[in-house]
Amino acid sequence: MEKQIITENYAIYNNDCMNVVDKMDNNSIDLSVYSPPFCGLYKYSSSERDMSNNATIEDFLTQYEFLIKEMARITKPGRINAIHCQDIITHTTKHNLYDFPHDIIKIHEKHGFYYRNRITVWKEPLRVRMRTMVQSLMHKKIVEDSTECFTAVPDYVLIFVKAGENKIPVTHDHGLKKYHGQTPVLPEMCKKFNKTNETNFDEFELWEYLNNTYYKKSDPRSNKLSHYIWQRYASSVWDDIRPDEVLKFKESKEEDDEKHVHPLQLDIINRLIELYSNPKEIVFTPFMGVGSEVFSAVANDRKGIGVELKESYYKQAIKNMQSVKEYCDFLSCEDNSLF
Ligand SMILES: C[S@@+](CC[C@H](N)C(=O)[O-])C[C@H]1O[C@@H](n2cnc3c(N)ncnc32)[C@H](O)[C@@H]1O
Repeated sequence: MEKQIITENYAIYNNDCMNVVDKMDNNSIDLSVYSPPFCGLYKYSSSERDMSNNATIEDFLTQYEFLIKEMARITKPGRINAIHCQDIITHTTKHNLYDFPHDIIKIHEKHGFYYRNRITVWKEPLRVRMRTMVQSLMHKKIVEDSTECFTAVPDYVLIFVKAGENKIPVTHDHGLKKYHGQTPVLPEMCKKFNKTNETNFDEFELWEYLNNTYYKKSDPRSNKLSHYIWQRYASSVWDDIRPDEVLKFKESKEEDDEKHVHPLQLDIINRLIELYSNPKEIVFTPFMGVGSEVFSAVANDRKGIGVELKESYYKQAIKNMQSVKEYCDFLSCEDNSLF
């Protein structure tokens, strides 16, 4: 099977990311978005090159640091690496947490990145309970001994900026127009709008009004649609990421796999790509999985580069990329209705 596919809009590789990254040019990447594999959380494959197979946290961090040195080299000065991660539950019955984000931050700071921002991605507790089977989320624990109960761990997106001047600003000449998420307008936003404008809209009607009135307006300063979208994206908690808006992944599970990969939600990637890169720029992921970051890059008129070690995920990424045109039409269509 072909180990790489290179087209005008994307390049994907079935390889160890270190083998691909070390051939990439200095200062050639505009934005990177990815979720690192992590030892203990999932085992994606039996390959010794699979970073999730490191025996200890220390081994993982040593290997990961080699990658971050390279990420610092290939990222353009002043540009962003967005890393999706979480605290790791090290013991499912006792719920001890390892602060993985802390180590990710330390490694980036050591290699020429500034730590700029942490976005929290809210997760629904029952869903987390069903997926992870952690006992600390069980209601019966409240009854038996509530010192063993804790909240569902959220995901985080850590934002790092490479030191140096950003030569090309990332601009949004017409503001933001498409909302990626479940709830563009909150009840309190609606209440405030109604009070100022003497209207009586519910959230649905306000969103419709904003789209009808401002979607085609080109001046970003007076474009209220853009202001409302930014108000939601500027929140430190992204609480309406749609968990099932992900690429197809189930077919990529192999017989001896304990679990299957959980692709990153497209809402998160779409937001990051729109916020932190210009059209036609290059978005990179060293851990492509079933292709999500590359898919979203191409759908948003960027160029995507991705590397994936596991062949079945890479094959699924090839398939997923075949439906990018359809999704692209959906993103660029003017129907912005979400309810
Ligand atoms: C958290 S998953 C990424 C999922 C991806 N964001 C998606 O939406 O499908 C991490 C991925 O890293 C891959 N991986 C592990 N070690 C790797 C390596 N050395 N080079 C490339 N990929 C690797 C795993 O096979 C897994 O697919």
